[in-house]
Amino acid sequence: MIITQPATFEQMWSAIADIGRDPTTGGYRRFAWTAADLSMREWFSGECATRGLDLTEDRMGNQWAWWGDPDSSSSGGIATGSHLDSVPDGGAFDGPLGVVSALAAIDRLRADGFVPHRPIGVVNFGDEEGARFGVSCAGSRMITGVLSPDRARALRDAKGISMAEAMRLAGRQPDQLGPDPEALARVGSFIELHIEQGRGLIDLGQALAVGSGLWPHGRWRIDIPGEANHAGTTRLSDRRDAVIGCAQAVLVARAAAEAHGSLATVGKINIKPGGVNAIASSVTAWLDVRAADEPALRATVAEIESAVGNAGAVVTEESWTPQTAFDDALVAHLASVLDNAPVMRTGAGHDAGILANAGVPAAMIFVRNPTGASHTPAEWAEPEDCQAGVAALATVLADFSGAEQ
Ligand code: GLV
Ligand code: MN
Ligand code: MN
Repeated sequence: MIITQPATFEQMWSAIADIGRDPTTGGYRRFAWTAADLSMREWFSGECATRGLDLTEDRMGNQWAWWGDPDSSSSGGIATGSHLDSVPDGGAFDGPLGVVSALAAIDRLRADGFVPHRPIGVVNFGDEEGARFGVSCAGSRMITGVLSPDRARALRDAKGISMAEAMRLAGRQPDQLGPDPEALARVGSFIELHIEQGRGLIDLGQALAVGSGLWPHGRWRIDIPGEANHAGTTRLSDRRDAVIGCAQAVLVARAAAEAHGSLATVGKINIKPGGVNAIASSVTAWLDVRAADEPALRATVAEIESAVGNAGAVVTEESWTPQTAFDDALVAHLASVLDNAPVMRTGAGHDAGILANAGVPAAMIFVRNPTGASHTPAEWAEPEDCQAGVAALATVLADFSGAEQ
């Protein structure tokens, strides 16, 4: 039952505009289970309550809100949504656009008097970016059984706080972590609307695209050993400087990516002990590699592993998403609804990909990003393109929930 008039897209957007926003950079820092993340979760449950949607949290704390009883349909419901966490100094759209658009699409359907035959769900997947504990899409990986509960509980943030501790501090029960087949069984199909994160739509003259799949991608930790010593008294020939090893690893990664037509990024480095006048005793660097195909990606990683291994560094895989194809029928349906919109694969990672690899028919809608930039405050979508996304999503939800598919 609707209790009060739901907030419009613009009102929802401005309600979250300041949550977790750093005033100096203008970027968002909404990391899993921090105060900012909890505020976003609270905002989400408030919006769901206003709309009379039934909200539950699964075993990993992903929030699911349903219009209609998700256990009433033998084929499950149609779910949409995205995530509300962010990378360090992330943009406003990556994640929240999908959640806000989902709620606005439901409002649009209700305003048209639509009554769903199958339930419609809106999800806020937790910890999609993996910015705090290192594993991307931790929420969807956990419920699909790709991330083990023991490993997740033991993951630590930069301050040494474990995920288990962070969840406990946030009032959750980390001992309950685990695959959640019940939550998943409710999802007959999943559509994630998302800001386009590159230049894919800029020159095509269209506001929306259909996502048909994800490039394979993964994260690796590189631990580089060194030996601490004095910056002013240690001869260059006597040094074992871990930062030199790190610099070599970064350059090797770039060269390997160029050689294999892939993308390799080192965006996070931890130098110990971290003194200006002390030679580094160790460095940990995190490597992100993506490619259009797995052989190119594997060749890139192998080349980096071999080069840094020769210098005594150890490379450990922290997360992996294989080449992912979304559901053909769903992609074709979206393309027709979206007025023959372009169909594209992306090098970005998404919970939709994790669900697809767990057997849930999934696909994505991308909204044009005129800056072509993402994971930065420069990320942008024009209001009319956002509205086009909401309208398309509403049509697709109606198509898939109006009659048994
Ligand atoms: C998430 O946006 C990712 O692609 O890492
Ligand atoms: Mn992202
Ligand atoms: Mn995202």
